[in-house]
This record gives sequence, structure tokens and C-alpha cells, in this order.
Amino acid sequence: MAYNRIADANENTERYMDSILIKERLIDSAVADTSVELFGEKFASPVLMPAFSHLRQYEKRTLNGLEEYSVAAKNMNILNFVGMMENDMFKRILDTGAKTIRIVKPYADNGKVREQMKFAEDNGAFGVGMDIDHIFGMDGLDVVIGEQMAEQTSDMIRSYIESVKIPFVVKGVLSEEEAVKCADLGAKAIIVSHHHGRLPYAVPPMMVLPSIKKALEGRDVKIFVDCGIGSGADVYKCLALGADAAAVGRSMLPALEVEGSLGVEKFVTKVNSELRFIMSCTGFKTVDQIDDTCIVRT
Ligand SMILES: Cc1cc2nc3c(=O)[nH]c(=O)nc-3n(C[C@H](O)[C@H](O)[C@H](O)COP(=O)(O)O)c2cc1C
Repeated sequence: MAYNRIADANENTERYMDSILIKERLIDSAVADTSVELFGEKFASPVLMPAFSHLRQYEKRTLNGLEEYSVAAKNMNILNFVGMMENDMFKRILDTGAKTIRIVKPYADNGKVREQMKFAEDNGAFGVGMDIDHIFGMDGLDVVIGEQMAEQTSDMIRSYIESVKIPFVVKGVLSEEEAVKCADLGAKAIIVSHHHGRLPYAVPPMMVLPSIKKALEGRDVKIFVDCGIGSGADVYKCLALGADAAAVGRSMLPALEVEGSLGVEKFVTKVNSELRFIMSCTGFKTVDQIDDTCIVRT
């Protein structure tokens, strides 16, 4: 019989998500409340925007895709993220009014890293962070759209964290050891992620959530997750496995391209409605009550 090896982490992640099934608990349940508190702020949902970059203006709209989804985040009161960009673009994101965490690249130009983080804090960002999973590339250190990346040491990360007063998020954590290191360095959140499959055979983020949650027990560190999330069922499973919130990703791009911020609002509303439905059907009235008692790993 033919045996097909699956190095593609995106495919393995989808398979893992689909292998998790949900049990019902209906009696004494009620319509659930999906609101969450993150870093002292109340949000309507544990659904997060993805940390995207380089989205163009779709359908000749005046705002580009990054601004469009930020407008949706503001209108829906959900936590927004953005990725690689210059300060003028980040200012335009903040002008949408969305509460936004800026994920800065691990640039070789360390002055640029610090300057972007300071600019973010000075101009009202909700948080800052770094996607450490873009340090390396197949030729050694990564080059992203012509910009050189560099190795990042614990001392460097600690110094970024100490340089800002807003929450610091490390994006691209995929092991228990790294999660604990982030906590020790003072990060306020991690994003468990393989950055849409950069690493061949990367473990599905959802698969390591339970052990990462256990490793961070008693630590004041939020656990976010992304990769392959596009439905309320996906978000529910992530929360059941130990995440505090989960980001949609490329799943929202078709809606964004066709209908801009309105499309994103419709998409996220659908995701959140399905999450609320599943929470109600499994006896969880609030997001913080969700645990793994109603999921079955097949
Ligand atoms: C167009 C695009 C741009 C992205 N830019 C960044 C970035 O600048 N920084 C970052 O941390 N992640 C970036 N990501 C990765 C996403 O934040 C996220 O980790 C990934 O898309 C999740 O996987 P999924 O799309 O399969 O859900 C980007 C992804 C896409 C599709």
C-alpha cells in the first residue's frame, strides 16, 4: 500500500484539528457569553485578528487589507494584531482605533527593533512582541522582503520586554521549554504557532497546548494560538486544549478581499456565533470555564 509522507505542517494541523470531536451537555446549560478579559481589557470574543503584513488595497478600496481588518477589529471589539511594517503604516493601523499588538520582526538592525517597539508604545499600541519563528531561513539567517534577520538571545528578548510598559508577546512558540523561557524573561503572552507551516513536520500548535498550559501553570502568561483556525469549532477546541484566545488566519482572506472590513465582520461574527453555540451545547457559560471535558481525541 502506498504511504504518503506529510511534511506539510498546515496539512498535519488540519488533520489534528479534525481528529478532535465534541460531546454535548445540554441540561442546565444556557446561552453562553463569549466575552473575555485580556490584560485588564474586556473584549467581545476570544477570537483574535492575525498578525498579517503586506496586504494590498483590494477592489480599489481606499484602505489596504491591514487597515480594513483593523477597522473590523475595532467595530467588533476584538483584539487586533499586525506584523512586519514601517512606523507610518503602523500609525495608520492605530488611527483605526483598534486595540492592536504590533509584532516586530527579529531584524538584524537591532536599533530598528527597539525603535519600532518604542514607536508602538509611544503611539498607543496595546502591546508589542516579536515573531521569533522568522529568525532562521534555509540559507542560515532569514531575509524577509530584502531585510536581514538575526539570532535573538534571552538577554535581547529580556531587554525588549524591560524597555516597554505594555504587554510583550512572543510569537512562534512551539515547545514547553520555550514557553517557560518566555515566562522567565517576563513575556505577558505567547502565541503558540508554526507561522503557517514554516517548519517541516512542525507539531500542530493545538497538540502542544495542553503541555504548554501545564508548564505555565501559576505563571501570569496568556496563551494564544494560531494556524489553520477558521471556524468556531476550531476556536472551541483550542480553548478546550488550553488556549486563552485563538487567531483566525488566511481563513479570513477571501472575506477580506471581497467585502473588506464588512466581510471580516461577517466572517468573525460567524466564527463567534459557532463558538457560542458549541459552548452552549457543552455546558460552558463563560469562556474561562472551558476545559477539555467535552472533547474526545480520536
Ligand atoms: C499575508 C501574510 C502576512 C503575514 N505576515 C506576518 C508578519 O509580518 N508577522 C508575523 O508574525 N506573522 C505573519 N504572518 C503569519 C500569521 O500571523 C499567522 O501566524 C499564520 O498566517 C497562521 O496560519 P494560518 O494562516 O494557516 O491560519 C503572515 C501571514 C500571512 C498569510
